[in-house]
Amino acid sequence: MESSCAAAGTHLTRRALLKLCIATASALAMPVSLGPLMAEVLATRKRRPVIWLSCQECTGCTESLTRADAPTLERLLFELLSLDYHHTLQAAAGEAAEHARLRTMSEYRGEYLLVVDGSIPTGAGGGYSTIAGVSNLDLLRECAATAAAVIALGTCAAFGGLPIAAPNPTGARDVATLMREGRIPARPLVNLPGCPPIPETIAAVLLHFLVFERFPELDELNRPRVSYGATVHERCNRYHHFVEGRFAERFDDEGARRGWCLLRLGCRGPLTHNACPTLRWNQGTSYPVESGHPCIGCSEPGFWDRGGFYQALHSDPGYTQAAASTAERGETLFDDNCVYCHLPSRKPFRTASAEIPALLRSGNVRAHRFSFTDAQLTDLAEYLKTLEKQP
Ligand code: SF4
Ligand code: F3S
Repeated sequence: MESSCAAAGTHLTRRALLKLCIATASALAMPVSLGPLMAEVLATRKRRPVIWLSCQECTGCTESLTRADAPTLERLLFELLSLDYHHTLQAAAGEAAEHARLRTMSEYRGEYLLVVDGSIPTGAGGGYSTIAGVSNLDLLRECAATAAAVIALGTCAAFGGLPIAAPNPTGARDVATLMREGRIPARPLVNLPGCPPIPETIAAVLLHFLVFERFPELDELNRPRVSYGATVHERCNRYHHFVEGRFAERFDDEGARRGWCLLRLGCRGPLTHNACPTLRWNQGTSYPVESGHPCIGCSEPGFWDRGGFYQALHSDPGYTQAAASTAERGETLFDDNCVYCHLPSRKPFRTASAEIPALLRSGNVRAHRFSFTDAQLTDLAEYLKTLEKQP
């Protein structure tokens, strides 16, 4: 019979905990050998209390969580965390619910995690959204003051989402802006944007915090680099069609049927940072672009205000930059790996640039100890093509 992790107060078997930790280490691009160590640490930890505030939102983030499958998010929430206050999931109501929140805040001062979904309305003295007669802004200010850290979950909490779209009638703000403006206490903050965010991303970040007591490395927008460090475009399964200039022009044309690039149908993948192509949705089944729909940029700042969903991106300055960066990324790869032996003078290879990815993939090139991903090979070929065009 398998033992369970009684010290952590969970009913997870050791094997299930180990599996969860290995999956998390892999999702966070950490060595999987860390999995057993993480499991050991977690087995000795008490369940960490969580206060979850839902502000101006649609409950989609919670919906996404409760339907998650791997790595068994319900187990993470209910067996490794103690979800003490959650507007949608809590059994308690009215005063009993508010007492639970206040008790957690006083007994676990500086220890509980604060999760926020939804944007925070600041107009009309906070009157657009209140809980137990208290405005979302006041509730957030009070709960953030003694929290160990804050997780802004979903695009609304991270960047304002739909409620902040012009003309922003409720004076909606995101959590980071309120911290910057000094309207709520500044606490360690991670943004997990997405409408909704990917459950596996949420689980990995929570588990990282439980084990290491801090968030994984973040980018300039407070997003975990490991999940949001690349665009949907860079990891897209249709990327080779983009590079080779094959685009669907209508949703029912031959290009759409053959799985060509959806850029001309409004795809925002080149501007959207998220891990959808690698983690996928619904137990790793698929993601919007793979299913035939353009990425609508649901995890980016400016979601809703940055042009129509089916409008091609050509006029967006961000897109021009992203498209240009294909060859630029190739040049960086070249400088980091190839330039020592090849082409210090940057004259073209004898082999045509278009054939170089296949040549490198074949493994027939001697003395190459590095290996490139398919996307990197495409970038490299794009850069080498620019050399061919030079006089
Ligand atoms: Fe994929 Fe969209 Fe990029 Fe085309 S534009 S390669 S469909 S992410
Ligand atoms: Fe959102 Fe685009 Fe992923 S619309 S779900 S970020 S593919």
